[in-house]
Amino acid sequence: QKQEDIYTIGFVQAMTSDNWRKEMNRAMKVETSMHPNLNLEIKDAHNDVDRQIAQIEDFIEKGVDVLIVSPIQSVPITPVIEKAMNAGIPTIVIDRKIEGSNYTAYVGANNVEIGENAANYIISNSNPGEELKLIEITGLQSSSPAYERSQGFRKVISNQENIEVVATIAGDWEKTSVNKNLQSLIDSIEAPDFIFAHNDRMAMGAWEVARSENLADSIQIIGVDGLFGPSGGIQLVKENILAATVLYPTGGAEAIKLATQLLAGDNIEKNNILNTVVIDKVNVDIMQNQFNKMNQQQNDIEQQQSVIKEQIATYNSQNYLLKIMVGL
Ligand code: FRU
Repeated sequence: QKQEDIYTIGFVQAMTSDNWRKEMNRAMKVETSMHPNLNLEIKDAHNDVDRQIAQIEDFIEKGVDVLIVSPIQSVPITPVIEKAMNAGIPTIVIDRKIEGSNYTAYVGANNVEIGENAANYIISNSNPGEELKLIEITGLQSSSPAYERSQGFRKVISNQENIEVVATIAGDWEKTSVNKNLQSLIDSIEAPDFIFAHNDRMAMGAWEVARSENLADSIQIIGVDGLFGPSGGIQLVKENILAATVLYPTGGAEAIKLATQLLAGDNIEKNNILNTVVIDKVNVDIMQNQFNKMNQQQNDIEQQQSVIKEQIATYNSQNYLLKIMVGL
């Protein structure tokens, strides 16, 4: 009897220092564990482009069956993905994009739409015609979600005569890139009505500054990610720290599903766009309940799998004993 082929998926994650990426890895692992013939190897580039390139090259050399990459930046990672494609390795790009279209599939939410959602939230939560001042805090400039979120946000705001983006802070996705810059900005200009930060970590940084200036009640802050769990965006909305967050699903499970379809020889969509939604005080409880349920199910699956593993181990050792006893 022919043993089922074992396939290796190599994933190069941009970094794993934040919970959003930890959640992406976890979702990948859970999905992988449903397929006994899949082996998932994750490398962490620690937010270092050269390291990420070297890790992708390692996987090319190893000849993984499918490569998944979440690029730190678009331009510098593009050639090495092309190299993987030329080596015949199907390559899935997740979350941040590369330049051009030489990849097998992309999975992620529409970041232009995320920016539009944030802007529309501001419009629908203010009085018609009311003069509003906004500050935008962007993600790392050479990564595609930062560019696209800004693009969507600006497009919607530019149609509103009464709303003005008075300043932009170039953040790098992390809270530390916000604190000092926002502090000196708020000291030098009139406080804004809204702040749109490109993710919840930077939004939290903005709130800390607002609080230190006694402005936490008058500035409404919007983030992106909407993670479940302690200090995640959902919790921040519940605690009224953020007015809203725009859900940015990690796509971890979807990427593994795409990989399995590729390995089965199925045709897949090139661009796989995930749904997003604004989470604010109106729907935060519903969202939290949904995530609770999903989380519970994932934990159940993980537990069941460890029980199955134990049973297999017991079976194998009993089988071994049996064979010795009957002299095989
Ligand atoms: C996580 C993160 C998220 C953000 C995404 C953009 O590392 O910074 O907060 O939404 O990357 O690629």
